[in-house]
Amino acid sequence: MKALRKAPTLRDVARFARVSTASVSRALSNPEKVSDDIRQRVLEAVQATAYTVNQAARSLRQHKARTILINLPDIRNSFFSVILDAVEREAALRGYGVLVANRLSGDGAGRRLQDYFLSNRADGFLLLDGSLDIAELRALTSDPISVPTVLCCEEIPNASLPIVKTDNVDAAAHATRHLIELGHSRIGHIPGPPDNVLTPERLSGFTQAMADAGLPIDPEWILPGGFQLTSGQAAAQRFLELTNRPTAVFAANDESAIGFLSTLHEHGLECPRDISIVGFDDIDIATHLTPPLTTMRQPREELGRLATKALIDLLESPEDQRAPLRIVLRSELILRSSTAPLPRAPI
Ligand code: RIB
Repeated sequence: MKALRKAPTLRDVARFARVSTASVSRALSNPEKVSDDIRQRVLEAVQATAYTVNQAARSLRQHKARTILINLPDIRNSFFSVILDAVEREAALRGYGVLVANRLSGDGAGRRLQDYFLSNRADGFLLLDGSLDIAELRALTSDPISVPTVLCCEEIPNASLPIVKTDNVDAAAHATRHLIELGHSRIGHIPGPPDNVLTPERLSGFTQAMADAGLPIDPEWILPGGFQLTSGQAAAQRFLELTNRPTAVFAANDESAIGFLSTLHEHGLECPRDISIVGFDDIDIATHLTPPLTTMRQPREELGRLATKALIDLLESPEDQRAPLRIVLRSELILRSSTAPLPRAPI
C-alpha cells in the first residue's frame, strides 16, 4: 500500500517563507497586520507546500466559528449573487467561511437567527434584509449574546448599526431625469414592495425629479409595486387598464421592469416604440434582453466586499469602532435601448 504523504504544517510554511511561525499565523488570520512582503512570501509558501488551515482546530483554539452569516431577502433575485460572490471571496481572504440564510423575516425569525449564534455556528451577521424586525434583532443582539452586525443595501431605521449602501434617492432621481431629458413628461413608477425600506427612498427620488422639472404625477401612474417578476406583471395589468397612460416608466428594480415589459409585449406593446423603461440594479440578464434594459447599476461587488470587510474588522478589532461606519456609494446610469425619445404618435 502506498504510504500517505504527511500533511504540511505551519512550520513547513514558515521554513519555506523564511519567516517565524508567528508571522505565518498572523499573515493567515490577520493579513492586514503584516507587511506586503511577508504576506506575499507566506502566500507563495502556502501554495508551494499545499498547506491548508485546519479550520476546525483553529475554531476550537479561538472559541470562534470563523464564519459569518449572511441574510438575503430573496436568494432567487440574481442581484444578490454578485454580492454573495464578493462576500465569499473577501471572507475567504480573511480566513472566514460564509453561511447563507434566505428571508428570515416573519414569525420566528429571531429564533432561527439565535440558533445560528447560540450554537456558535457564526460569529457575525451581514444583514441585507431591512424588513427584519428590529425588536427581534435587538433581542438577538442583547446580552447574553451580542452579535456584531453590519447592514448592507437596506437600512433598518433607528438601528444605529454600521451600513454599506447606495444613495437610492439620488439614483432614482437620476433615472427619472434621464426619461425627462428624452422628452417624456407622463412618467410612471413601479415602486418596491410596500414594506421595504428602499421603496420610499426610490419613490422620493422619482417625485423630486418630477417636481424639479415641474411635471405633475397622476396618482394612477404609481403602479402596484414589488421586487419580483410577478410584481412587474401586476404593474403591467394595471397599466393596460389606464386611459391616460404614461409614455415612460421608472421601475424600482430590474426584475419588476422585466416582468412589466414581457407582459406588455404579450399585449402587443413594444419597447421603446410605445413605452420607455428604466430599471434599477443592472442584474446580468439586463443586457441580454430584447431590447437591452437601461438601468441604474448598483456597485454590487463593492457593496459586498466593503460590508464584509467592515464586519470582519468589527469582529477582529471591536475596540477600533467608535461611531458606526456609514458608507454610501453611488449608482451609475447604464444607457441601453429600452429608453428612447418620446414617440411622436400617442399610444
Ligand atoms: O432587486 C432587489 C433590491 O433589493 C435591490 O434593488 C437592492 O437594492 C436590494 O436591497
